[in-house]
Amino acid sequence: MWLLLFLVFVLIWAGGTSWYLLRKPSPFTVESVRPAGPLELDQRKRDKVLKQGFTKEKIPKNLDAIVIGSGIGGMTAAATMAKAGKRVLVLEQHDVAGGCCHTFTEKGFEFDVGLHYFGQLHENGLLKVALDQITEGQLEFVELPQHFDSIVIDDSGKRRDYAVLSGKTEMEQNLKKHFPDDVKAVEEFFKIMKVTARKIHYLAILKLIPQWLALFLLKSGIADFCSSIFRLSGSNATEVNNRLTTNKDLHVIFSYFFYGVSPKDSSCMINALMLHHFKRGAYYPKGGASEIPFNITKVIQKHGGSVLVRAPVSRILVDKKGAAYGVTVKKGDEHVEICAPVIISNCGIFNTFQKLLPPEIQVKPEIQSRLDMMRPGKASFLVFSGFDATQEELDIVPTSIWLFKSNDMDAMMDEFFSMSKDEAPENIPMALITFPSAKDPTSQLRHPGKSCMTILTMVNYEWFEEWRDTRVRKRGEDYFHYKMRFASCLFDWACKHFPKLRDKLVFQEAATPLTNMHYLSCNRGAIYSADHNLERFYAEAMARNRCDTPVKNLYLSGQDIFSCGVAGALHGGLLCASSVLSYPVYIDLLLIKKKLKRKKAAEAEKLAKQKQQ
Ligand SMILES: Cc1cc2nc3c(=O)[nH]c(=O)nc-3n(C[C@H](O)[C@H](O)[C@H](O)COP(=O)(O)OP(=O)(O)OC[C@H]3O[C@@H](n4cnc5c(N)ncnc54)[C@H](O)[C@@H]3O)c2cc1C
Ligand SMILES: *[C@@H]1O[C@H](CO)[C@@H](O)[C@H](O)[C@H]1NC(C)=O
Ligand SMILES: *[C@@H]1O[C@H](CO)[C@@H](O)[C@H](O)[C@H]1NC(C)=O
Repeated sequence: MWLLLFLVFVLIWAGGTSWYLLRKPSPFTVESVRPAGPLELDQRKRDKVLKQGFTKEKIPKNLDAIVIGSGIGGMTAAATMAKAGKRVLVLEQHDVAGGCCHTFTEKGFEFDVGLHYFGQLHENGLLKVALDQITEGQLEFVELPQHFDSIVIDDSGKRRDYAVLSGKTEMEQNLKKHFPDDVKAVEEFFKIMKVTARKIHYLAILKLIPQWLALFLLKSGIADFCSSIFRLSGSNATEVNNRLTTNKDLHVIFSYFFYGVSPKDSSCMINALMLHHFKRGAYYPKGGASEIPFNITKVIQKHGGSVLVRAPVSRILVDKKGAAYGVTVKKGDEHVEICAPVIISNCGIFNTFQKLLPPEIQVKPEIQSRLDMMRPGKASFLVFSGFDATQEELDIVPTSIWLFKSNDMDAMMDEFFSMSKDEAPENIPMALITFPSAKDPTSQLRHPGKSCMTILTMVNYEWFEEWRDTRVRKRGEDYFHYKMRFASCLFDWACKHFPKLRDKLVFQEAATPLTNMHYLSCNRGAIYSADHNLERFYAEAMARNRCDTPVKNLYLSGQDIFSCGVAGALHGGLLCASSVLSYPVYIDLLLIKKKLKRKKAAEAEKLAKQKQQ
């Protein structure tokens, strides 16, 4: 314990001193945060920021870094570096910036791609402080109702509904009310949540300290001696759930945020963290998910950098000594070369190592052993539906609904993912239903009289693989027919819960793994990139999966570094910027957090005094 504390202390001290001595400008300051400005509703003005097309002329001179991919991870790394005085170019293959945080509008309906809600945005929380820094305080969030999720287990007619509430004490209290015979189990699970949330930074530190030191701490047993988190991260969720209770419904509650891995193959730590993430509230960005890239882009531009779209990177350039020195971007038939001393890839470990690196580098054993630690995740299937009716007319809610056909998630997922292509569409065992328009109060201002719904489930890439080489929107009758079998089953399921939807449906689009590959460039349609299987979260694997790579000057960022989710990918970006800048930017964030908390306490004290007088 003491040794780890000491090492952490030395690390912080060394980082702090070297930063002070070298006078590296601190990327983050309290002063850079301003009150949020008004929403920009003019689509043309928004497009000027989010859809700045790539041309040679627009490449900034004297770049300090190139970031491949404009997801939240890449944008966070870019903005952090920009704020440290670096000139950064972000290159995005799609025609709009944002990655999973982009939105698209069809027939007057606006849909988010990969953000339903996220948590830990309470005042002066670390994530809130970080987001405020990279957007200069310009993002505003709407807190969703306390009842933010419903879990519905619908097996053979005996339907059970469980509300999940946010709230420091209410989340736990409410579950105890739902499960009066399992009060102890709920308490135990919340203890695990607390340990994981409080000690998760130990695992992040493993990625920041030199790898030999991290491995030494783990192998010598010092790490385990300091905290149970290192063992917890490698415990499978089913084993922990079984230990706590025999109540299968409660097992579902403990693991309901499905991401394509059954509880028996997933880390109990990740599942606990996901629930913990919403303990202090679930939030939605005011103005929709695209506000995030919109505001971060402006911060990058302010420091001389740029975010350019329609800029697919085709190759990472590596010199004779094995160091990365630039990229090529495919523009028509041409491959435009751009050089920079640092290359950050935010397009996932598989795309980066298997597609972008030169073939002779790909085969190197160091690269292969990094790849062997990960495997591609499951793909997603999404149904986007638009309705000509208001929230009130449709009886829809800001609460998201998680539907399950059985309370045995392990068996249910094993069975589904081993089905044949033909069996799958009519046997989907779980889905998430969410209504973006009901979550955002500005939605009626932006798209009056319209409502929308997104349904999400996970699927096998192989079911869609035969159409891999067809072109988007021209994949043929049989593809369309096959995907609509999934879509109509999912839509029918949603209508069972919201019967007024059916008559008002005016728009529907289904997105398959191939759709994700086209718009998000996800490897095999896996929206969360590498699989979140148990082995990935073994402490040793966590220590080895880092932002720096065997290729000098090439760094990884985004969801493959720590975990998926907007928060997970953002931390991937912060860890990456820390590696590149050789300075743990978390120190600044923690100092700012402390400062703000002190300020708030002083204000509260002043107010109390005034009242007394
Ligand atoms: C349907 C769905 C629902 C989700 N729901 C939630 C939620 O409710 N809450 C939550 O917190 N998280 C949610 N997530 C997860 C979250 O959105 C992601 O984990 C996170 O945004 C990933 O960020 P990233 O920066 O790592 O990658 P991405 O956002 O995937 O960014 C990668 C970018 O790289 C680009 N790219 C790839 N290859 C190239 C190339 N060669 N050249 C140039 N650009 C390239 C891609 O186009 C993409 O823009 C959801 C995701 C999806 C898809
Ligand atoms: C962020 O966007 C809003 C409009 O939506 C704007 O008022 C604000 O100035 C932007 N922030 C930055 C940093 O430019
Ligand atoms: C889960 O963990 C328990 C205890 O360590 C182990 O017995 C079991 O085999 C594990 N299950 C899987 C699927 O790995």
